[in-house]
This record gives sequence, C-alpha cells and structure tokens, in this order.
Amino acid sequence: MELTVKQATTLKGTVRAPGDKSISHRALLFGALARGETVIRGFLPADDCERTVRCLSALGVSLIREGPTFVRIQGRGPASLREPETTLDAGNSGTTMRLLLGLLAGQPFPAVLDGDRSLRRRPMGRVVEPLRLMGAQIEGREGGAFAPICIRGTRELKPLTYRLPVASAQVKSALLLAGLQANGVTALREPAPSRDHSERLLAAFGATIEQEEGWLKVRGPAVLTGTEVQIPGDFSAAAFFLVAALLVPGSEVYLPAVGVNPTRTGLLDVLQAMGARISLGSLRRQGPEPVADLWAGTQSLRATEVDGSLLPRLIDEVPILAVAATQAQGTTTIRDAAELTVKESNRLQAMAAELGRLGAKVIATDDRLIIEGPTRLRGAVCDSHGDHRVAMALAVAGLVAEGETRIRGAECIAISFPDFVDQLAALTKGGVTDGTGQYCH
Ligand code: S3P
Repeated sequence: MELTVKQATTLKGTVRAPGDKSISHRALLFGALARGETVIRGFLPADDCERTVRCLSALGVSLIREGPTFVRIQGRGPASLREPETTLDAGNSGTTMRLLLGLLAGQPFPAVLDGDRSLRRRPMGRVVEPLRLMGAQIEGREGGAFAPICIRGTRELKPLTYRLPVASAQVKSALLLAGLQANGVTALREPAPSRDHSERLLAAFGATIEQEEGWLKVRGPAVLTGTEVQIPGDFSAAAFFLVAALLVPGSEVYLPAVGVNPTRTGLLDVLQAMGARISLGSLRRQGPEPVADLWAGTQSLRATEVDGSLLPRLIDEVPILAVAATQAQGTTTIRDAAELTVKESNRLQAMAAELGRLGAKVIATDDRLIIEGPTRLRGAVCDSHGDHRVAMALAVAGLVAEGETRIRGAECIAISFPDFVDQLAALTKGGVTDGTGQYCH
C-alpha cells in the first residue's frame, strides 16, 4: 500500500491510542500459563498481537474473542499446553518469538518457531543462550542465532542467575517466563532498566517478583491465577501524534488514557528538554500501570543530546524523535543506539535514508543518529523498509513537508496501529490517502 500525505495546515482533535502492544502480548502469555479465567479489555488487535493469539491457540490454549479488543482465556495451567501440529509463525513480531521461547522452555515437547524475512534477521541468541543454560534444547539457523528455531523444553528447568548483555524487556520477559516454570530462584540483572510491564503484570497474576539490589528475582514453579486486565493506550503509538501536534502549526491534539509507565516515557523527557510542553492530566492507575490524558500543541523546538540509560526508555521512539529533530534548532545527536540496528529494520539507516529524501540532514552510524535542524522538508517518494514505525514516522514528516509525501510499503503500519491512517485522515480532514479513495474529500 502506498500512503500519500499532504502538508497539513493544522491538527485539531482527539486521537485514541490503541491498546499497548507490549502489555497485550504479556496479558495473553500470562493468561495462557495461569489457572482460571483471564479477561483482557482494550487488547491491541494488530498483526503482532494476533500472531501471539494464533500461536497460543496452536498450543492448545482456549482463547475466546468477543470483539476485536476483548479476549477471554480459559487458563488451565502450564501442564495443559500441547505440542503444536504446525510451525508457530510469529510473523514480524520479535516479542511473540522471544517470549514464546521463554514459555516453551518449560514445556516438554518440540515446537518450531518462524517469522517473516525481517524476523529471521533479528538476533535470537540473546534468548537462546540463557534458555539453554536453563536446560532447554534449542536448535536454529547459525547455531540458534536466527529463526527458524526448534525448541524442546523440559519440566526440569534449572533456575538461572544471569546478567543480561543488553537492556531488553523481551529477553528479560522470556527469562521470567522460563523462571516461573523452573525449580528454584531465577535472578536477572540488566545493564539499564528496560520496560517493566512483565514485572507489574505478573504481580497482578499473583506471582512474587522481587527486586533486590538491582537483581530481579522470581521463584519457580509459580502458580499464576487468571485475572482481569485493562490494557492502557500505547504510548509508542501516541508518540507519533504528540510529535505531529508539536510540529504542525496551530495544532492541538488530545490523547486520552495513554499509558505513562516511566520505563516507556523517555520521549516526554527529551521533548521537554527540547522546549516542548506536553500536559499530562488525570494521572491515575489502570491495574498495575499508570495512565494519563495527554495534550500537545505546536511548539518550537531546540536540539538536544540523547544517550545512555535513556535509550531503553525511548527505544521505539527514535524514528519519530528523529523527525522532531529535523525541525529543531541546532544539531541533535542520539548516541548509544546500536540496538536500533536490529529492530524490524535497521532504523538508524532507514531514517537517515528516508528523511534524507525529504531534504533533511541526517547521518547514521552503527550506533548513532546525527540530525541537523531546522530543515525545510519537501515532499518526495520514500519507503517504509517494511517497518511500521519508520512508515508512521515518515507520515508525520509528510505533514510538515511541502507538497505531497508518498510512503511505499505502508501496509506494515497494521503491525502495531491498525487505524493509524483513519485517525490521521480524521485529524487532517482528508489530507491522507491510501490509494483506495476512502479518504478523498
Ligand atoms: C518490547 C521490547 C523492546 C521494544 C519492542 C517491544 C517488549 O524490544 O523495542 O517493540 O514488548 O518487550 P527489546 O526487548 O528488543 O529492546
């Protein structure tokens, strides 16, 4: 699908952020391990999370859909999972593949996991190696470094004390899922804190997760109990509209009920340092997660420096931050960002190349992005690199670029934000078309 975005005059209105992707995956996986009923409201019905639904169904988990955002799981505990008849296809979803490997490490049957071209290029050694130490047998391409991967778990999983080489919530969560099924205490330490949705949600499922002097500890075998989960709006989805509101003149955008877990909101800190004012109203809790209503309006921005432990707190927001930086006064440098090269695409290279087509001055290295601003962007034809966040970031750049911006391969947006185009079209009063004629006014 090719998305055409016209330069916008103003953005005014309400955007409903879809359910959080990370929490939607976790609610499914924990519900599948639990005993009793789990009810999920506000689930993200996007391709990534639907992969987890299908993989769990193939493992014998009883999932009932009552509408796109409502899932009921009849949990029968870890021993109820069964050998799948088919390959478990994680599609584009790193979270599905890595977290499922953790779940399957405690299951005494073989399963084959595969994904699309992008997922087959993403590093799996970071979960495979520690899971092998726990006793799971795992084979895969290049010694288990890449999918397709075959795992045969065991009920005799050994606990693990392990320092994660990268700050990764996917690796941490995979090891927590394995640790819950192991016999003893699994202790994990990250080089910097990554998103803590698993820790919060597991507590709601009745697990005891302890934090002790920088170590995260879980004792297995743990019994999880089904619960009700209300998924907050996805901050990473909201981020595209927050930045759009900052950049398009005369804008005012309201985003109700967005998750503002501090391990996710590094972008707010950075935008604030750049001179933006984003208001958080009605800060409240939705189950274990903090949620707020957000307002953003047009502001002029100045350049900033981003590095170190801030990166895990805005890991998915680097593409949209790069767009903001093209309009900021001065040179913005985003350092310590090597992880961005192993996401759905090499996001450093992809953003430098595609924003470059629009006239931005962006340099990518293997671990940083350097963006000179402010530059006047001009509409051009650019490419999503098959990466949903690159596509949406380019759509926001298109709102400030003169004329028309065309984004090839924009169908990947459905991986995380199925009604992004609808909501953008509503906000721009039809300044967006996807070739179907649906948004032409
Ligand atoms: C995620 C963790 C992050 C993030 C991804 C979702 C999760 O990946 O980029 O979009 O749900 O745990 P890493 O764990 O690879 O940093």
